[in-house]
Amino acid sequence: MSLTVLADHDLTSANTLGLACRAERFVAPRSAAELGEALALACRSGWPTLVLGGGSNLILPATLPGLVVQPALRAWWLEEAEGDAVRVHVEAGVVWHELVMALAERGLWGLENLALIPGHCGAAPIQNIGAYGVELAEVLEAVHLVRLDDGREAVLDAQACGFGYRDSVFKHALAGRVVITRLVLRVSRRGEPRLGYGDLARRVGASPTPLEVAEAVCAVRREKLPDPAVLGNAGSFFKNPVVSAERAAALRAVHPDMPGYPLADGRTKLAAGWLIDRCGLKGWRDGPFAVHDRQALVLVHHGGGDAAGLLAFAASIAERVERRFAVALEREPRLVGEGEGET
Ligand code: FAD
Ligand code: EPU
Repeated sequence: MSLTVLADHDLTSANTLGLACRAERFVAPRSAAELGEALALACRSGWPTLVLGGGSNLILPATLPGLVVQPALRAWWLEEAEGDAVRVHVEAGVVWHELVMALAERGLWGLENLALIPGHCGAAPIQNIGAYGVELAEVLEAVHLVRLDDGREAVLDAQACGFGYRDSVFKHALAGRVVITRLVLRVSRRGEPRLGYGDLARRVGASPTPLEVAEAVCAVRREKLPDPAVLGNAGSFFKNPVVSAERAAALRAVHPDMPGYPLADGRTKLAAGWLIDRCGLKGWRDGPFAVHDRQALVLVHHGGGDAAGLLAFAASIAERVERRFAVALEREPRLVGEGEGET
């Protein structure tokens, strides 16, 4: 048997928050056959199974029973489509940012605004990753997956993925039930730069290439977001709350400078970072955890903390925002293990 199952495997450096975690068993299948073997073994043995990507959107417990599967299938290839369109097939273990830059370097449009989002391609559909005015849903054609319970393969088209803001079917009906093995994306040799978010337009020339846009996005992100290699974090800790237009108008009557983005359905997306910032919490530290001093939506871990401590810290932030603005904040990263499913 070619499959190597590691026992008592340390995941502390495999999650960007840097929470100490040991997995009872760990496997990183490099082929579809190895993945099938790992899933069959877990099924036969009745092991709970966690699928791990780059660990950049997870809150891990100190110990994880069962099996952690980190797909290490790392091929990607291009297929000509009609007109200027090009189809990208990418396996789950490819690092998202490396794919974005490889496509941008080839002059292909579509993913450039999503540069420098940490993690692996297999996780991108889970929360429909988005940044700088673009979401994965706009470029995704299909998701190939394997079901954990019976090893059956399936292909979902974009419609079946039920994408929304930081949301998909993989957080609901299919939560914890599938391994995504491959994405099919659609990019183009011709494209319009999307520079409407923040000061992106100011950072590039008149007719930027996809690579120039990607590099500008990287520059903005490096200014605001902490590098997980230096300071533990999971990006935005809360989703931006979506409220009715009336509620947004009432809040803006009291806080005229409050940012808000109108959505197609008439509701308004508020900026959780602004709400937290306005509670005076930017830079606030309590023991091992702190609110990042350049982006209040990002909670950072200075080391020595655990999931319970992080959740308590986050709850105290959400409470203050609720008290001041009567707006509820919902957690973005997935809490694994005890309490999973609660927000
Ligand atoms: P993990 O954290 O390993 O897993 C996340 C979830 O996906 C888990 O539920 C896991 O079980 C599941 N999963 C992982 N791989 C698979 C698979 N192959 N099949 C089935 N399920 C799977 N997100 C954004 O949307 N926009 C941003 O701008 C952004 N910026 C960030 C900046 C920083 C500094 C950090 C640390 C995070 C940021 N994030 C952002 C969040 C994160 O990068 C994304 O959610 C990313 O897609 C997570 O990928 P991952 O491989 O690390 O997933
Ligand atoms: N703001 C403040 N103070 C802060 C932080 C933000 O006033 O401390 C204000 C900003 O000035 C701006 C607004 O809030 O007016 C929005 O801030 P920003 O542009 O930094 O984006 P965000 O809404 O905080 C979202 C995503 C990020 C994504 C960026 C860029 C969510 C939960 N977060 O952040 O995604 O990179 O937009 O598109 O939607 C992630 O999901 O992990 C993530 C980092």
